[in-house]
Amino acid sequence: MSKDELIGILQDWNFWRKDLETGIPRHAYLARIKQFLETNQVLTITGPRRAGKSFIMRQAAQALTQHGVGKENVLIVNFEDPRFPELNTKWLERLYETYLEFLTPKGQVYLFLDEVQEVEGWERWVRYMHELKKARLVVSGSNAKLLSRELGTLLTGRHLDVTVLLLSFGEFLEFSGITLKDRLDMLNQRVAIQGLLRKYLEHGAFPEVSLSEQKKALLLNYFEDLVTKDLLRRFRIRKPQELKALIKYYLSNVATLSTFNAIARSLKLSALTVEKFSGYLEQVYLVFFLRRFSFKVKEQEKSPRKVYSIDTGLSNVVGFRFSENAGRLAENVVFLQLKRRQAFEPELEVYYWKDVHHREVDFVLKHGTQVRELIQVCWHVEEASTKERETRSLVKAMGELKAGSALVITEDYEAEETFKEQRIRFVPLWKWLLGYDERDGT
Ligand SMILES: Nc1ncnc2c1ncn2[C@@H]1O[C@H](COP(=O)(O)OP(=O)(O)OP(=O)(O)O)[C@@H](O)[C@H]1O
Ligand SMILES: [Mg+2]
Repeated sequence: MSKDELIGILQDWNFWRKDLETGIPRHAYLARIKQFLETNQVLTITGPRRAGKSFIMRQAAQALTQHGVGKENVLIVNFEDPRFPELNTKWLERLYETYLEFLTPKGQVYLFLDEVQEVEGWERWVRYMHELKKARLVVSGSNAKLLSRELGTLLTGRHLDVTVLLLSFGEFLEFSGITLKDRLDMLNQRVAIQGLLRKYLEHGAFPEVSLSEQKKALLLNYFEDLVTKDLLRRFRIRKPQELKALIKYYLSNVATLSTFNAIARSLKLSALTVEKFSGYLEQVYLVFFLRRFSFKVKEQEKSPRKVYSIDTGLSNVVGFRFSENAGRLAENVVFLQLKRRQAFEPELEVYYWKDVHHREVDFVLKHGTQVRELIQVCWHVEEASTKERETRSLVKAMGELKAGSALVITEDYEAEETFKEQRIRFVPLWKWLLGYDERDGT
């Protein structure tokens, strides 16, 4: 391939002479990337398939050019481009030299390498570029764990990771055309917001799905791609039916407790297979597992686990019965929001709690050695027996764990009540997701 041809391809991915489609800004991620770019570290962007990683990368590159960095100082390459004839470090070097020759950037250069795992030996090249301070580097790929593991060994302590999840509810509102200026605005638009929350629970939070009219078809497509490309091929799985059965089991049993042994029995698989496959599903961000809180680490590890899905829309298309179980989907959404919070609060650990009398609390939020908050997700709190059960568990756990505060997330009920001298707040899910908090008093 001649240099002219090469630069022709690169032009398609870059802002040098034209504008590119960048979609709706994901401000929270852009702020973090900006902050990270100011440190002298390699930045990795990881996350589930179709979460919007490539779009965010492009938005970050565009933001640089809007804040004083020359357009010619930014190079974006997507290595999934089928026009690239070979993918190795020699090729990378040639690509970089061609860029320097044609664009002649002065000063700091920024390299955004998308799907970088396609390039054989990329880690060494990235490290070399970083060490010689030739460029600031942002790399991304859907092979998340591998990406950070490979880089981790080569760049110990010299890289930062941003995990991109699907749309938060706030982002989802923006994608739906609703921007909230302040809290008053939020209250005024309450009815619209509640309607959209139902959609959020039902169709999930993939950016493209939220903008599309063909939600179900798209989700089924994503599901197939995930299974065939990310799982079967990558992990060389020979029994696709077993894997599919396990995925369907997890996605339709969100927010329930299970052990590998119990699943193995019910799906007629070996426990070892269930354990191995579960690890893969976690690696591609399809599901997350939550462990039981215990002061003893060993017990924590042995405990049954609760499973959550990357997306409630995906759960719904593969067999979850939405109408009967909105409460469990709500719990899934709360879990995902806590995951987002963890990205900003690395100290935050999340567990569920259960005692010998089968009293349960959905989420225990721990910081260091301290349990800060307990959260119960309770959809039909207006039923007296439900309320009684849920609050009794909360009060019990508050005493046992010396928790700072307790919260019940509801569909619509809002109050502050005292049970056995413990104060418990009730907040509707939509308000909680939008970061509204009574205690702020703002
Ligand atoms: N910020 C956005 N604004 C508008 N649409 C978006 C945005 N982010 C993602 N999308 C839509 O979602 C699709 C997937 O986004 P993108 O390609 O960025 O995801 P990705 O995480 O890079 O996926 P993959 O793992 O397949 O590479 C896009 O083609 C676009 O339709
Ligand atoms: Mg991508």
